[in-house]
Amino acid sequence: MPVATQASLKGLTPEQLEETGCRLCLNNTYHLGLRPGQDVLAAVGGAHKLQGWHHNILTDSGGFQMVSLLKLAKVTEEGVEFLSPHDGTPMLLTPEHSIGLQNTIGSDIIMQLDDVLVTTSPDAGRMREAMERSVRWLDRCIAAHRNPGTQNLFCIVQGGLDLDMRRECCAAMMARDTPGIAIGGLSGGEAKADYCRVVACCTELFPELKPRYVMGIGYPEDLVVSVALGADMFDCVWPTRTARFGNAVTRRGVLNLRNARYASDFGPVEDGCACACCRPRDQQGGLGVTRAFVHHNAAKETVAAHLLTIHNVHYQLDLMRRVREAVVADEYPAFLRRFFADLYPDSR
Ligand code: GUN
Repeated sequence: MPVATQASLKGLTPEQLEETGCRLCLNNTYHLGLRPGQDVLAAVGGAHKLQGWHHNILTDSGGFQMVSLLKLAKVTEEGVEFLSPHDGTPMLLTPEHSIGLQNTIGSDIIMQLDDVLVTTSPDAGRMREAMERSVRWLDRCIAAHRNPGTQNLFCIVQGGLDLDMRRECCAAMMARDTPGIAIGGLSGGEAKADYCRVVACCTELFPELKPRYVMGIGYPEDLVVSVALGADMFDCVWPTRTARFGNAVTRRGVLNLRNARYASDFGPVEDGCACACCRPRDQQGGLGVTRAFVHHNAAKETVAAHLLTIHNVHYQLDLMRRVREAVVADEYPAFLRRFFADLYPDSR
């Protein structure tokens, strides 16, 4: 899922986002709750109408954003206390309030409010408290949810890098039988081996037929490995954020088009890519956007950020489409070998 935090994917129109192949994007409850706020969201008829988006939306519940963005957020059993970034007034996001906002937003997938710690946190006692509180908050979210027939509430498994705690959390949350399941508390700088152990440990305990979402993951290598470990869904700001720094995500790795070597490179951003940035714009197969054009504009003009955002979102979604095809064809091991051989051609 591309991340459109404030109900827009930075730099793209909804139509351009649709053209990348996106059918599910992510909005944030915390940001939309602050601005435009629940009254405006109710008046306009929800986030789909607000952003002119006819496809699906997933909203994150808000607690993670507050804890990661605001130094002054404090978690209690009641909810997450924070000071409004607009005027400093004290505010409280409870599980009931988060679900109420998400009901008004009308997103197709809504997330429980969870108590999130960074995985590298050494405090096992606090980690246990956060895991157990997340289960209690799930119950409060389920009780508060007004539209279970149209909005799918996902639980979020916590427990840090402790596999026993993760198993305990999985068992408690599976008993609540939500339509989908997320793994949270990762993507916080943990070692890849630890990340893989946690994802594998959780997916083994999940029911076969429910979507499994690992939150905050977006590097292509992490996506393909996580699928091998049994995960289905991901979100990350990285592909769109890195586009704004002049970076193109390609099969051969990330290219920084601000680099002087691209000043007279007249090929497309990625050869063979079918996105609106890369594909040739005339019948003869010439005259598309070139790396040199992006390089020329990357420092000051926003057009380079727009073009690379289109390319990067298309790349990620096309990667996941190829992943799905390989899984369905039962050819995933060969797909993985090809993927890594393309990315690291000199490592054989
Ligand atoms: N985004 C990345 N990680 C998390 C998490 O653990 N919880 C929530 N709610 N959002 C996240």
